[in-house]
Amino acid sequence: MKRRDFIKTTAVIAAATAAGSGNVLRAAERLSNADTEQESEGQLIVSAPMLQNFAATSMGVVFAVSALANGYVLVGEKSDLSDARKVLCGGYRMTDIDDRVIRVRLTGLKPATRYYYRIGADRISYKGGYKMKIVGNEEDPRTYSFVTAGEKAEAHFCVINDTHARWESFGPVIDKIAELAPACVIWNGDASNVEETVEAQMRIFLTPEIERKDYAARTPYLFCPGNHDDRGMANRHLERVWMFRQPEERQPRDWDLGRNFAVRQGDVALIGLDTAEDKLDTNPKFAGLFTSGPYREAQTAWLRDALQQEEIRTAPFLVACCHIPLFDANPKHNPGDVAPADKDPQYSTDFAYWQRTCARMWTPLLEAAGCQLIITAHQHRYRYDAPAPDRPWAQIVGGSPDLGFSGSGENRKEDPGKYPTVIEGVVRGGRLEINVHNILTGRVQSQFYFQPR
Ligand SMILES: [Fe+2]
Ligand SMILES: [Fe+2]
Repeated sequence: MKRRDFIKTTAVIAAATAAGSGNVLRAAERLSNADTEQESEGQLIVSAPMLQNFAATSMGVVFAVSALANGYVLVGEKSDLSDARKVLCGGYRMTDIDDRVIRVRLTGLKPATRYYYRIGADRISYKGGYKMKIVGNEEDPRTYSFVTAGEKAEAHFCVINDTHARWESFGPVIDKIAELAPACVIWNGDASNVEETVEAQMRIFLTPEIERKDYAARTPYLFCPGNHDDRGMANRHLERVWMFRQPEERQPRDWDLGRNFAVRQGDVALIGLDTAEDKLDTNPKFAGLFTSGPYREAQTAWLRDALQQEEIRTAPFLVACCHIPLFDANPKHNPGDVAPADKDPQYSTDFAYWQRTCARMWTPLLEAAGCQLIITAHQHRYRYDAPAPDRPWAQIVGGSPDLGFSGSGENRKEDPGKYPTVIEGVVRGGRLEINVHNILTGRVQSQFYFQPR
């Protein structure tokens, strides 16, 4: 019993005994009812839903709660939800009750199909063992909808990156996405800074400090983590806030690769990879706590198979995304393979500016499959690397969270090259059109066209 409760109980028992009315047990029972009522106060669902890790036959729905809750999603194809089924949080065996984040994975969906949904949660009182009961229920009255991925879905996507919980630039980025209304968004890493608590992660993904709180309730998001999404104790289990796919959605070999994606979206196949940390596992700064090496190798096996999947193999356009660039022409830029501690005076940084190890493992597979474009991030400055004779794919490096300035404090100076980007891809007239939107100027910074592979 908490000290506050002990004092309260003692007071009630003393009052009951003094008054001589009823026995002590009944007084304690009244107190327990009072506690239950107290637990029921306040709003239970405290964020809009976020659609995560979408695919042709599944969708993740994640939302925040303020107390212990058993969350669910009502989902159906009719807008009045008259055909809705209820899907509980968690997987098999038991539900995944939680006092902060509810994660529901909808499976068995049809490709390229619009579904309507609503979120809800039972408030749970749990006092240990079998002492558990429902003490309230809350449903978000809004009905949202989404469309699953698939060959017949709209070939229209956006990529954002390096948002770093900088609300002054994240807000306008999200406004641009609302204006463009793509079928899905790929968040290409460094959403985080260094996150030590689940609450901090919730603030980034579920309750960001921007006007459009329901930014991801109708537009599904995919995630390619960046090096900063590996930093901090909480980010060691980012799947508590950014859920994994269910194990049955991937091969046993790939069970731990819960966020890699190979999604067909109209004429485009989208591939998502995780370049992991920007320092070697052997770097003494890391105290042996990272295993990026084997993780990248596991993704190579996954990628080889993903590219052979019928819906990926037959897509006219193949676009891959990952956080750290897979090419850099600047000889001063650290390629991330300087053992053991990433230090070499010939490079401008002692961390990876680009990822040669990943490039050597992944780009031969992507090239053989006819990949036209790799979209990356990490360098905080927009750049386009046109295809070359020895590199048939183009690379776009996404922009920065800075709004026209570089540096900070006394070193802060104007820099019009520092701006956030929204990279938009759309298939029009048989070719893939890429528009790079400059969020600082509000204009299209560059436009590129790709022919079918
Ligand atoms: Fe970054
Ligand atoms: Fe980064």
